[in-house]
Amino acid sequence: MLQVPITKTQVSRLDSVDWNNLGFGVVFSDHMFVADYKNGGWGDFRIIPYGPVPMEPALCTLHYGQSIFEGLKAFRAKNGGVNIFRPYKNAERFNRSARMLCIPPLDEEIFVESMKQLVALDHEWIPRQRGHSLYIRPFAFGTDSFLGVRASRTYVFMVITSPVASYYAEGLNPVRILVDCEHVRAVRGGLGTAKTAANYAASLYAGTKAHEAGFSQVLFLDGVTREFVDEVGAMNIMFVIDDELITPPLEQGSILAGVTRDSVLTLARSWGMKVAERSITIDEVVDAHRKGRLQEVFGTGTAAVISPVGELSYKGESFIINDRKIGPVAQRMYDTVTGIQYGELEDTFGWNVHIEL
Ligand code: COI
Repeated sequence: MLQVPITKTQVSRLDSVDWNNLGFGVVFSDHMFVADYKNGGWGDFRIIPYGPVPMEPALCTLHYGQSIFEGLKAFRAKNGGVNIFRPYKNAERFNRSARMLCIPPLDEEIFVESMKQLVALDHEWIPRQRGHSLYIRPFAFGTDSFLGVRASRTYVFMVITSPVASYYAEGLNPVRILVDCEHVRAVRGGLGTAKTAANYAASLYAGTKAHEAGFSQVLFLDGVTREFVDEVGAMNIMFVIDDELITPPLEQGSILAGVTRDSVLTLARSWGMKVAERSITIDEVVDAHRKGRLQEVFGTGTAAVISPVGELSYKGESFIINDRKIGPVAQRMYDTVTGIQYGELEDTFGWNVHIEL
């Protein structure tokens, strides 16, 4: 087992948490995991009190964005202990992103061990309310201080955790999404498949405009033809048309390989549902809606879990989906994914990494 020295906080902030108003990603647990990459290797693994990170103004990441991150969740399991949902899948994606950003990969076991030890130490921070969880945010960035475009030679890897409620204020109620024909998030051959800060920066302008117009998020189209559906930045997107579950394929080259996306596709196939990972144009979605064949639209993501879409707005026209109600597929997905996460349903696929406390 990885030997991790622990420096405990002198003053826990746990008592100041307002558990009934957690929001998402605004409260941080007492400790953080840290490792440094120097002289060609990762080392100096440690857990220390959550706090500021020293940096110089010339920190290369501030200027050139060499940073990657992950998002996963820990849950209080029904029969005791804690479940971390599919951390090896995140470890794999973290290293895929690392390669794309020229960041040295981290051993997958160390990645998973880092959060197991951190979550075990801060387990009192895991919310008790069903639907709430401890969001885990591993991330890495270049720590060289210089001005000039080259990959950093030193890096830091950190894990912080945050007790969270639902990502959208709507919770499991359907959200309104604006289909953006003007701005793009990523293009094939770019960084769209990496979980890197740049993709989120690229979505901010469009997202802010959409918020101002009363929408929760933007649905991005592909960056070349603006015909094909890509993703929603904070989540992947799924359509149910004629009882078939359809989602854009990873081969499209500009969307993130969502862990919840994969879980939903796996569940749907195991239930005998027709599933297609294929490119789908926004015109096909609109056409299916006009013909009454579009039964459901929902987003999938670690933060968002399953987020039903009640309205798509495209070129000034509003398309109301399933009477703005959550549909049966989205509901069954939400119940099953969260049921497995909280240890209420059998973990048939071996997705949870369980920690006994
Ligand atoms: C996640 O779903 O974990 C993400 O990283 C999305 C982010 C917008 C919170």
